[in-house]
Amino acid sequence: MAEPAPARIGILVVSDRASRGVYADRGGPAVRAYLDRVLATPWEAVTRLVPDEEPVVREALTALVDHDECCLVVTTGGTGPAPRDVTPEATLAVIEKELPGFGEAMRAASLRAVPTAVLSRQTAGVRGRALIVNLPGSPKAVQECLDAVFAAVPDCVDLIGGPRLETDPSHVVAWRPHG
Ligand code: MTE
Repeated sequence: MAEPAPARIGILVVSDRASRGVYADRGGPAVRAYLDRVLATPWEAVTRLVPDEEPVVREALTALVDHDECCLVVTTGGTGPAPRDVTPEATLAVIEKELPGFGEAMRAASLRAVPTAVLSRQTAGVRGRALIVNLPGSPKAVQECLDAVFAAVPDCVDLIGGPRLETDPSHVVAWRPHG
């Protein structure tokens, strides 16, 4: 039997300065390294780097889901209170269902590490057959936030009709109450 195609996962870096080449982005590579460690299912990354412009972020999110057929899209950056931070607005504009528990869980876990975790407006939601999850831009935040929610990601992807994502239980035990 033919091997199933690798699961496609979008990594969308939202950063004015990284997109202008002022500094090298570190959030996107941190997401990729986390997924490489945790996922036991073959997967491939579809990566994009865009400035903090709401229409551009919206367009990148819709392309990753509708065109690239990602089952999961992880964004990094642009979740704070600064005038240019618009990732949550762009996310809310393209999702059909918000999953506010993701933001709540990530902030709760992050608050144990840094008081400024409360500044992140990160959220998550479903567009078509994809789960979109916002993370802050720092590599440390990427790890802390994914650790807080990743056990629920495979079940969510199952429920919305995506591929079955298996995890390495030595890193994350996927919680699958729906089978
Ligand atoms: N969450 C975790 N786990 N660790 C962090 O260091 N930094 C906070 C917060 N959430 C942080 C965190 C800070 S300082 C900010 S301003 C917000 O995320 C928004 O970050 P962003 O603008 O890079 O998205």
